[in-house]
Amino acid sequence: MRIIKIFDTTLRDGEQSPGASMNVQEKLMVAKQLAKLGVDIIEGGFAFSSPGDFEAIKTISNEVEGPIICSLARAKEEDIKSAWEALKDAPKKRIHTFHSTSDIHLKYQFRVSREEALKRSVEMVTLARSFVDDVEFSPMDATRTDIHYLCEVVEAVIEAGASTVNIPDTVGYSIPVEFGVMIKTIHDKVKNIDKAVISVHCHNDLGLATANSLSAVLNGAGQIECTINGIGERAGNCSMEEVVMALRTRRDIFHADTKINTEEIMRSSKLVTKITGISVQPNKAIVGANAFAHESGIHQDGLLKEKSTYEIIRPESIGLYATKFVLGKHSGRHAFKTRLKELGYILTDEELNKAFERFKKLADQKKDIFDEDIEALISEEVAKVPEVYKLVDLYIVSGFNQKPTATVKLKVGEEIIDRLEHGDGPVDATYKAIAAITQTKSNLLKFDVKSITGGTDALGEVTVSLEEEGRTVRGKGADTDIIVASAKAYINALNKLAIRRR
Ligand code: KIV
Ligand code: ZN
Repeated sequence: MRIIKIFDTTLRDGEQSPGASMNVQEKLMVAKQLAKLGVDIIEGGFAFSSPGDFEAIKTISNEVEGPIICSLARAKEEDIKSAWEALKDAPKKRIHTFHSTSDIHLKYQFRVSREEALKRSVEMVTLARSFVDDVEFSPMDATRTDIHYLCEVVEAVIEAGASTVNIPDTVGYSIPVEFGVMIKTIHDKVKNIDKAVISVHCHNDLGLATANSLSAVLNGAGQIECTINGIGERAGNCSMEEVVMALRTRRDIFHADTKINTEEIMRSSKLVTKITGISVQPNKAIVGANAFAHESGIHQDGLLKEKSTYEIIRPESIGLYATKFVLGKHSGRHAFKTRLKELGYILTDEELNKAFERFKKLADQKKDIFDEDIEALISEEVAKVPEVYKLVDLYIVSGFNQKPTATVKLKVGEEIIDRLEHGDGPVDATYKAIAAITQTKSNLLKFDVKSITGGTDALGEVTVSLEEEGRTVRGKGADTDIIVASAKAYINALNKLAIRRR
């Protein structure tokens, strides 16, 4: 059984999804979860692209144990040096450098010849090797590159010291049979290919990223680049959960598997959804809300008799268990701490005290506390930033034939300020009042509200994206009252902007 390496790029290509940018703490949380999931390589970001990405890769390098930590770098000296600076504390590190190879890119974007592109690629792999032993090279837009030239580049960069050659379908153009043939050609024709692992990196523009990656495995690829929930540039990247579960479920065909601890899949998916605010479509394979929901009577009948009649994957194998309410108003600190631990959250005493206080408040409002409620509560706690603005009071008048009115009281520094505003609805009125008190002029790019569990007493979770002078931040809030949750999310985002401004 071959073991296929999983190279996770949620924190780099995944983060390139519109609106998915993550701050250092958020990237660290995801990276820790990826380590639990058992990925082989974490691409933490693109060190040279921003101070935030540099800091995130450095922090991950220092704090996350297990996987190889990797930074992307263009084939430029400054990028490679910056990648090295960010990575140097990691026990296992990789520099991933890339240069386009297709004529379309070389002619119209970079205006360099094939010879120049090859020379630069070799020079930069050599430079990266002077810093680290583990260097990956990607010929960008490989699937639209002349195959003879592609093989020449691959051979040259291996000769220069690249131990992984990644074949990206950058624009999601290839189809499985064709991509398989390309990987087989590289496997059979490149003389020194035994000195490197062939990796694949597929985008999903035609909905074929997973199929293309699997076809590559059948033709000699030993590493798959993918993201949690398939997030990524445009239509996204190959989805980690799909490719991993396809290999696991059809080992009979692939004769290959991964080292992924599949029971962590659901938790990883939820964490990425929470942090990025990008929801998973209900019918998404493996992690969609309906992926294990059986509606048809005939199917239900079969399932009751024998699960394998209609289920090819056991839900528990991806960490999906039937929701059960576990805690309530009489639950003590010990039970709360134990459940948190079972859910995978290890908090410091101070964090635990704060979370427990909020849990008790919630238990007063809501009879049954489900695992999802606890997770929302913790993720809101984690999203917290120093509070320049703090919600003190909120009073709403709203209803049929009523003019929605919000009276908001905020603590701004040491001052308490209140304001009454009208709006098109209670959230609009609340946001107008908050904007007036804080004297901020941000643009609301996204407002998303969802219920955490069923029932009219469910926690509502609100995610907002705000933009101010080119900076975009996300804010989160959860409460049984969705207007309060909306106010909390807006204030959380304004606090982030205030910190960035400073
Ligand atoms: O899609 C792509 O080509 C990339 C490269 C940087 C590997 O993301
Ligand atoms: Zn990509």
